[in-house]
Amino acid sequence: VNDAGRLSIDETVERIKALVGPKGWVSDPNDIEPYLVEPRGLFHGATRLVVRPASTADVAAIVTLCAAAKLPIVPQGGNTGLVGAQVPPENGNNIVVSLQRMNKIRAVDPLNYTMTVEAGVILADIQKAAEEADRLFPLSLGAEGSCRIGGNLSTNAGGVGVLRYGNTRDLALGLEVVLPDGRIWDGLRALRKDNTGYDLKQLFIGGEGTLGIITAAVLKLFPRPREIETAMIALANVDDVMEIFARARAASGDQLTAFELIPRFGIEMTTQHLHGISDPIAAAYPWYVLLEISSSEASGASRAKLENFLAAQIEAGLVVDGVIAASAAQAANIWRIRDGMTEAQGYEGGSIKHDVSVPVSRVAEFIRTAMAAVEARLPGIRPCPFGHVGDGNIHFNLSQPKGADPKGVDKAAYLARWGEFNDIVHGIVAALGGSISAEHGIGRLKRDEITHYKSPLELDLMRKIKHALDPDGIMNPGKVIAAE
Ligand code: FAD
Ligand code: MLT
Ligand code: ZN
Repeated sequence: VNDAGRLSIDETVERIKALVGPKGWVSDPNDIEPYLVEPRGLFHGATRLVVRPASTADVAAIVTLCAAAKLPIVPQGGNTGLVGAQVPPENGNNIVVSLQRMNKIRAVDPLNYTMTVEAGVILADIQKAAEEADRLFPLSLGAEGSCRIGGNLSTNAGGVGVLRYGNTRDLALGLEVVLPDGRIWDGLRALRKDNTGYDLKQLFIGGEGTLGIITAAVLKLFPRPREIETAMIALANVDDVMEIFARARAASGDQLTAFELIPRFGIEMTTQHLHGISDPIAAAYPWYVLLEISSSEASGASRAKLENFLAAQIEAGLVVDGVIAASAAQAANIWRIRDGMTEAQGYEGGSIKHDVSVPVSRVAEFIRTAMAAVEARLPGIRPCPFGHVGDGNIHFNLSQPKGADPKGVDKAAYLARWGEFNDIVHGIVAALGGSISAEHGIGRLKRDEITHYKSPLELDLMRKIKHALDPDGIMNPGKVIAAE
C-alpha cells in the first residue's frame, strides 16, 4: 500500500487473483500465450495476468481495483479480431480480462423476439439457441465458431447478413456494461422503441473495449427462414456483378440475404489449398458471386424465383454460367469456398489487407480503379477483391507476386510495403466517399491511419468521449485513438 493508501500494482494483481479464485486467472507463460497473439500474427503483446471472471459482479470488482491502481485493462472475447484491438500492449503493464467463462444464455423470449446473453457466449451457440426457439439470430461470419458476442458487439461486426439484417449495432436492444470506474450500467432493456435521450449503448457497440466492458446484451431475433436457396454464378466483368446485384434485389426484394463476391483467384486457391472443396462450375470465369435468397414461408417459391431470375439473366447475357445448390452439401461447399478465402490466401505468401467500403453504386468503379493502381505500382501483384459487395464492403487483399518465395525474404520485403499500398488503396476509397475500415475496426492496426481520414472535429469528439468515460485512460489504452 502506498502513501496515498492505494494498493500497488503487485498488490492489486494479488487481490484480483484472490477475488476470482484459482479457476479465474492464468499467469503461466505457456497458458497465457494464446491471449497475447492474434489471427494475422501482426501483434504480440505481454501481460501481468489473464483474468477470467465468471460474473458481472466479479468484472466490476476487478475494474474497481484496476481503476484505483490505474492498472490498464484489455478486454478480450474470442480473440479473432483482425486489427490487434484485443492484444495487450508489449510493455506488459496491464491485465487481460477474458469474458470466456461468462457464457450463459440468460433468457430467450420468443414472443418478444429477444434473447439475453452474457458477453462470452460463442456466436454459433447463440445462433443455435435461436434456432431451437424457432427464431433466427442473423449475425454470421467466418469466425462464428470462436468469436464471442461481447467481441461482436465491441467491434460492431458485419459479416455475410448485413445486406438484409444490418450490422451487430442493428441487432442489439440493450447492454450491461462495467464502466472504467467499476460502476455497472444496467441497460438491459428489451424494447424496440425507447426514445429517452442519448442512446448510450451505441457508444460501447463498436467501441473496441475502450469505453467499458460489455458483460451482457439483449439481442434481436427474427423469424426463422423456412427456405434458403444458394447459387454460385459466374460473370465476365465486375460491372456486371453490380448490375446483377441491382437486378437480384429488384427481383427478390428483402429475400436477398447474401451477395458475396469471389474472384477466380479465390476459387483457385480454395480448391487447391483447402480440403474437401470442389469447384461447382466446370469452366473458369473472372468473377463469381455467392447469392442466397431466403424466405420465412415454406412454399417452394424461392427456388422457382431464383431459377427464373438466373434463366432471364443468362438469356440477357449478364450471367455467363451458374449453379443452384441442389442439396445442403452443395450449398455448404459453396459457402466453404467463400469462408475459406482468408485461410487459403495464407498459402499464397504475403497478403496486404484492406477492409474498405464505398457506396454500393461505386463498388465496381472502386475495384477497377484500385486493381489498375496496384498493378501499375507492382506488376505481378495478385489482387483478391472479395466479400460483402452487396453492402459495399470489399476485402481488397493483395497477394505478393507469384514466384517469390512465400516464406522467405521476399515475403518480408513485400509486407514492408504495407503502408505504401494502404496509401494507394485508401486514397481511392476516400476519393469515392468510402471508409478505410468497413467492419474490422481500428484497433492498433489503423489507429494512426485513421487520423488521415477522419476530420479534426470527429477526432476531437472521439477524444472527448473517451476522456469523459475513461479519464485515466485505463480501458484498452492505445487502441482506436492515441492518448494525447
Ligand atoms: P476479440 O478479438 O476478442 O476482441 C475484439 C475487440 O473487442 C477488442 O477491442 C476487444 O478489446 C473488444 N472486446 C471483446 N470482448 C469485449 C467485451 N465483452 N467488452 C468490451 N470489449 C470487448 N469480422 C467481421 O466484422 N466480419 C467478418 O465477416 C469477419 N470474418 C472473419 C473471419 C475470420 C476467419 C476471422 C479470423 C475473423 C473475422 N472477422 C470478421 C473478425 C472478428 O471475427 C470479429 O471482429 C469479431 O467480432 C471479434 O469477436 P471476438 O470475440 O473474437 O473479439
Ligand atoms: C471475411 O469476410 O472473410 C473476413 O472479414 C475477411 C478477412 O478475414 O480478412
Ligand atoms: Zn468480412
